[in-house]
Amino acid sequence: MPPQKLNSDATAGASARQAESTAFVYIAAAFAALGGLLFGYDTGVISGALIFIQKSFSLSVFHQELVVSVVLVGAAVASLTGGRLADQIGRRMNLALTSVIFILGAIICAAAGSEVTLIVGRTIVGIGIGLASATVPLYISEVSPAKARGWQVSLFQLAITIGILAAYLVDYAFAQSEQWRWMLGLAVIPGAILGLGTLYLPETPRWLVKNGQGEKALGVLRKIRGTQSVEEEFREIQDAAARSEERGQWSDLLKASIRPALIVGIGLAVFQQVTGINTVIYYAPQIIRSAGISSASGAILATAGIGAVNVIMTLVSMWLIDRVGRRILLLTGIAGMAVTLGILGFIFRESASAHDAAFGQLAVITLMAYVAFFAISLGPIFWLLISEIYPLKVRGSAEGTAASSNWAANFVVSLTFLTLVEKFGPTWTFWLYGVLSIAAWLFSYKLVPETKGRTLEEIEAFWHQGKHRA
Ligand code: BGC
Repeated sequence: MPPQKLNSDATAGASARQAESTAFVYIAAAFAALGGLLFGYDTGVISGALIFIQKSFSLSVFHQELVVSVVLVGAAVASLTGGRLADQIGRRMNLALTSVIFILGAIICAAAGSEVTLIVGRTIVGIGIGLASATVPLYISEVSPAKARGWQVSLFQLAITIGILAAYLVDYAFAQSEQWRWMLGLAVIPGAILGLGTLYLPETPRWLVKNGQGEKALGVLRKIRGTQSVEEEFREIQDAAARSEERGQWSDLLKASIRPALIVGIGLAVFQQVTGINTVIYYAPQIIRSAGISSASGAILATAGIGAVNVIMTLVSMWLIDRVGRRILLLTGIAGMAVTLGILGFIFRESASAHDAAFGQLAVITLMAYVAFFAISLGPIFWLLISEIYPLKVRGSAEGTAASSNWAANFVVSLTFLTLVEKFGPTWTFWLYGVLSIAAWLFSYKLVPETKGRTLEEIEAFWHQGKHRA
């Protein structure tokens, strides 16, 4: 294995590294993670709602595609600009703005009287999701103590998976009565809770120091660490802020000291999507039915099962992430994804000639295994790493750039999946994602650093030393 530990002076930062979590941090992280719940819910809910929306407005295929995909476009644009906004107006204000946008989007969607209004509402929801993905991991990362940062930032991914599962269940509950307005409108509730939460959340000490509010930062740090002795951590934050006196510019992202981290973030962003996760999350019922399970309710049940596996394995990953580290989980999980995608390709190849229900069951088990491997690796670890590997000066912009690349890649995969299946068949499509998983493994092996247990300032110092590799 390549050398992987981030170098740091053995004693410097030791007490900052040992800082404990307090109830206050748990609550702050949980509130912020609600942004993830909305992300998961709003991307998941449309699969079940679309048939009924189509009926209400007699949507053309093009309009259906727009209703689904404008969310991804809105998210790609908003995460890019939202990250920079988080550097400018602060993490907390960005979260407050996110909640207002989510509420507005949900209300417009639920009350839409025409397809145009609905598309506008879905674009606004997309903007909310983009802002959330650029801000939530960053916020949690900057308030968490180093030794618990892994699982606390992963609360974001956990919330995404719970949001997806909740969306499947809500779709199921309202399907009989065809009430798609309720399906889309219910997102108002977590949106409002997030909004109330931001009244209680403090701004992060790192952003405050960077913006000349040292006194306030010290107060927040004492509160979130539950002790008066935070001088060492405070000094480290000040040093890191002093290293980058002026405000970050977009062009800074290309500087030699930041470029390697930017490549890691964008690379993982793209690999998280082109290895196929959302073909399963968005199209699971279709995939399952084409593998041989013929009943619609059987397919929906299996889909809910996949959603549950996603939640449970994210919890497992959270338990492991600060113990075994990011790299080992990432490499194990991606390897498992490559293998299960390979098997899935074979199952589809055999089922095409045999028409045996057993293939359907085998496909469901393999899909569950694939999602499980994603949930311990690329799922949470992508969002975690992009919240911790960038220097304070450009943290928001760089995180936003990675998040935006993730949404753009998501858009391309979602739009091309059905066409790929139609042209080349499911076997070759899943094998393509399998080959891309092998590329993701090599990329991670070569370039992703181990950040477990390090303070954000130690990670920043690592890139400043000119280290370009893991
Ligand atoms: C990804 C989403 C995906 C979800 C599935 C997230 O990390 O960014 O695109 O739908 O995981 O759990």
